[in-house]
Amino acid sequence: MKVAVVGGTGDFGLALAQRLADAGAHVVIGSRDAGRAREKAAEAGAAEGAANADAVRGVDLVVLAVKADAALSTASELAAAIGDTPTLSVASELRFSKSGVRPAEDARSIAERTQDLLRGPVVAGLQSLAASSLAGGKAEGDALVCGDDERAKELALELASKVVEGRALDAGPLASARALEGMTAVIVNLNRRYRGHAGVRIVGL
Ligand SMILES: NC(=O)c1ccc[n+]([C@@H]2O[C@H](COP(=O)([O-])OP(=O)(O)OC[C@H]3O[C@@H](n4cnc5c(N)ncnc54)[C@H](OP(=O)(O)O)[C@@H]3O)[C@@H](O)[C@H]2O)c1
Repeated sequence: MKVAVVGGTGDFGLALAQRLADAGAHVVIGSRDAGRAREKAAEAGAAEGAANADAVRGVDLVVLAVKADAALSTASELAAAIGDTPTLSVASELRFSKSGVRPAEDARSIAERTQDLLRGPVVAGLQSLAASSLAGGKAEGDALVCGDDERAKELALELASKVVEGRALDAGPLASARALEGMTAVIVNLNRRYRGHAGVRIVGL
C-alpha cells in the first residue's frame, strides 16, 4: 500500500507515518516545505518526503493530516494533484473554553466539506486515536472509519488495521463523520478530567 500523509510533519501525521512504515507500507510524507518533509521522512522511517502536491501523486490513499483549520484550504489547493485518488480525513475542529472542549458548530463535518472540494472519494476516520497514543507503537483500542465509497473505505480500513491493536471498523456513511469528529472533543475532555490517554473500544460485535 502506498500512502501520502499530507502534513506528515505534525504530531499526528508523523506518528501515523511511523506506524505505517513499521507495518511495511510505502509512506510519502508531505509538507509545504519539501526539505522538512525529507527530514521528517528520515526520522519516521518513511520511504520518501516531498512537497504536498508531489507527495499525493501516484499513491493509493492520501491522508489529509494538516492542522484541522487548514484542512479545507489544503484540500482545495491539492484538488488537481489528488485527482481521483481516495482521501482519508482525520480532522476534528475543536473549540476550547473554560468549561471544556466542544465540537465546532458547523452542521456538516470537515470530511463532508472536504468531499465538496475533491473529485475522488473522501472517507473519515482515526479521529479517536491520539497522536501521543500512536507515537510509541500501535494505539490501544479500535479505529472507526466512515464513508460512502466502498473501495475507499476498504483502503482506509486496511490502513487503520495497521496502526491499532484493536479492530478497524466500518462505521457507516460519510454523514456519520460528524459523530467521529465530535467524539474528539469527548476524548480530550476525558483526558483532561482523568489525566489519561483515552481511546475507543466498541463492545458487542
Ligand atoms: N493531535 C492528535 O492527537 C490528533 C488525533 C487525531 C486526529 N488529529 C487530526 O490530525 C490533524 C493534524 O493534527 P496535528 O495535531 O498533527 O496538527 P499540527 O501538528 O498542528 O499540524 C500538522 C501539520 O499541518 C501543517 N500545517 C500547519 N498549518 C498549515 C496551514 N495553514 N496550511 C497547510 N498546512 C499547515 C504543518 O505541516 P508543514 O508546515 O510541514 O506543511 C504541520 O506539521 C488534524 O486535522 C487533527 O484534527 C489529531
